[in-house]
Amino acid sequence: MRLDKFICKSTELNRTEASVFLQNRQVTIDNEIFTNGAVQVHENNVVALEDMTLTLRPFRYLLMHKPASTLCSNVDEKYPSIFNFINVNKKSELHVVGRLDADTTGLVLMTDDGSWTYKIITPGAQCEKVYRVYLRDELTVDAVIKLEKGVMLQGLDEPTLPAKIEILSANEVLLTITQGKFHQVKRMFRAVGNRVRRLHREKIGQVSLDVELGEWRYLTDIEINSFY
Ligand code: URA
Repeated sequence: MRLDKFICKSTELNRTEASVFLQNRQVTIDNEIFTNGAVQVHENNVVALEDMTLTLRPFRYLLMHKPASTLCSNVDEKYPSIFNFINVNKKSELHVVGRLDADTTGLVLMTDDGSWTYKIITPGAQCEKVYRVYLRDELTVDAVIKLEKGVMLQGLDEPTLPAKIEILSANEVLLTITQGKFHQVKRMFRAVGNRVRRLHREKIGQVSLDVELGEWRYLTDIEINSFY
């Protein structure tokens, strides 16, 4: 990790403030002064700022209940960012693990641990995501068979991986998929001649949504480790 990033991740300083300390020759790695923030810090190095040894903040893992008309990005654009709902320090360091569309509600995971994110979203992980889907038309038996087998989405060379479907009522189903392609759920139902009217994510792996709309909480150790 770069030295300036290390300083930001172990103090409340931002990059600009960190660079002032660097330029003032107040930062050492293994007792040697460094002024260049791009220098790499390795696991066994001891970094100190004004003679105080720095240790990295532990990674953070959160879940939140995303409302409709919000964006899974770090900035407000057409809609407000979901990060407006989170009151933690340095929230610009957090990212979303598997975005939802602006109109989709439900479970969103956030973290500053990139390798944890990779474990969840890498196709090889086959991590199950459960969506509650409200449909325009009643789902036919033929459509269920097709979705369970895999359907071709426009622009892709291969069919989607097999999905699980639990029919809850004429126009409401629970869909479990292991992929996370752009607008995947909406495109899957479109591929069988139906339309998604409302979409809500209930579960990712072993983590279930259990907070009210707009609320968030930290994940438990069991939840964090369930993805390893
Ligand atoms: N699939 C979609 O189409 N939209 C989402 O927000 C998530 C999955």
